[in-house]
Amino acid sequence: MSSQPELLNRRIVLGLSGGVACYKAADLLRELVRAGARVQVVMTEAATQFITPVTMQALSGEPVVVSQWDAREPNNMAHINLTRAADAILVAPASADFIAQIAQGRADELLALLCLARPLSRCALLLAPAMNREMWAHPATQRNVAQVQRDGAFVLGPAAGDQACGEIGDGRMLEAIELRDELVAFFQPKLLAGRSILITAGPTFEAIDPVRGITNHSSGKMGFALARAAAEAGARVTLVAGPVHLPTPRHVRRIDVTSARQMHDAVLPQAPRHDIFVATAAVADWRPASAGEEKLKKDGSGRPPAFELVENPDILATVARLPPEQRPWCVGFAAESHDLLRHAREKLQRKGIPLIVGNLGPATFGRDDNQLVLVDAHGEVELPVASKLTLARELVRVMAERYEARAA
Ligand code: C5P
Repeated sequence: MSSQPELLNRRIVLGLSGGVACYKAADLLRELVRAGARVQVVMTEAATQFITPVTMQALSGEPVVVSQWDAREPNNMAHINLTRAADAILVAPASADFIAQIAQGRADELLALLCLARPLSRCALLLAPAMNREMWAHPATQRNVAQVQRDGAFVLGPAAGDQACGEIGDGRMLEAIELRDELVAFFQPKLLAGRSILITAGPTFEAIDPVRGITNHSSGKMGFALARAAAEAGARVTLVAGPVHLPTPRHVRRIDVTSARQMHDAVLPQAPRHDIFVATAAVADWRPASAGEEKLKKDGSGRPPAFELVENPDILATVARLPPEQRPWCVGFAAESHDLLRHAREKLQRKGIPLIVGNLGPATFGRDDNQLVLVDAHGEVELPVASKLTLARELVRVMAERYEARAA
């Protein structure tokens, strides 16, 4: 199932000030349009030295505005017309000089004028700095960045890495997809602001010998979607991930582990430092009692090797049994193949947790969509089929509500 475009009907002014990173703005524009946004591009004179308005017009489907004296505006008030309808102004790239202008409240050029003329309560300003690392590190730039933040602007990045000038350091503009995701996150309600959440995700891998092991089909996608949704909602997020090859969602701290015992050892010290714990990981119930140091070989007898299994620690149950002052509010997942509700209800009791989220494992492993049923002491609520990210955002909403309403 494809979900609704993330920025559907959002009205964005995409501003470009002068810098080599203007080449990334064309890609960014495509991503924003693809995500459903209606984008009006505004460029400074300097930006037109790096990329032409023709490209940006073709990609946005709207004429680009460069000058405040543009006679196409019937009332000649581009700075008013363009900002009254906008949900946000995203300046990418934002040069050192542009940030300095904004810090001072200058209005020499249309783009700076727009930022000054925008209604502060309705139209956010997001700046994606792009400059040489020395320019970024300069006290004047740092002072200006701090000032624009105090004045309500949001600063996205910059990233560290190779720079166009050949140097390496802080000052690279974020990539188009990262900026799109930052904008998507910006519009999500901050339901978990000030809260912290610890999430386990993915399968575990229990070694039999140095080359083989026991694992399962969990892809980690639901847990990673939840980590992203929680970060978008303003939470501080720690994600303890089993062996999966998924990119880490932005602003999420990730701890990689392999086995159930490693996951247990990573989670336990973190648990008391978080408000909420969500166990989405499909932790192996058993592991081989002792992993062979060398690869097991066929011995010619025709009999397979016998190895004993021992039970793994139950991470969720252990966290749920911590003393109240150390215990986060716990949510479990139940991936079942049948009798979902009965099993989910049993788990709620057995683990002693306030909320369990059920899903049918074989129907969702590896897929981008899912279907959930939330089970608590009072009853159950179904969340119908949707993308894992959509479900994760809904789950964040429910968790935030229940966490705030929890018994003290
Ligand atoms: O029935 P089961 O014990 O597998 O319950 C699943 C829930 O418990 C999930 O939330 C899973 O992450 C968690 N779990 C755990 N440690 C285990 C087994 C399951 O945290 N060893």
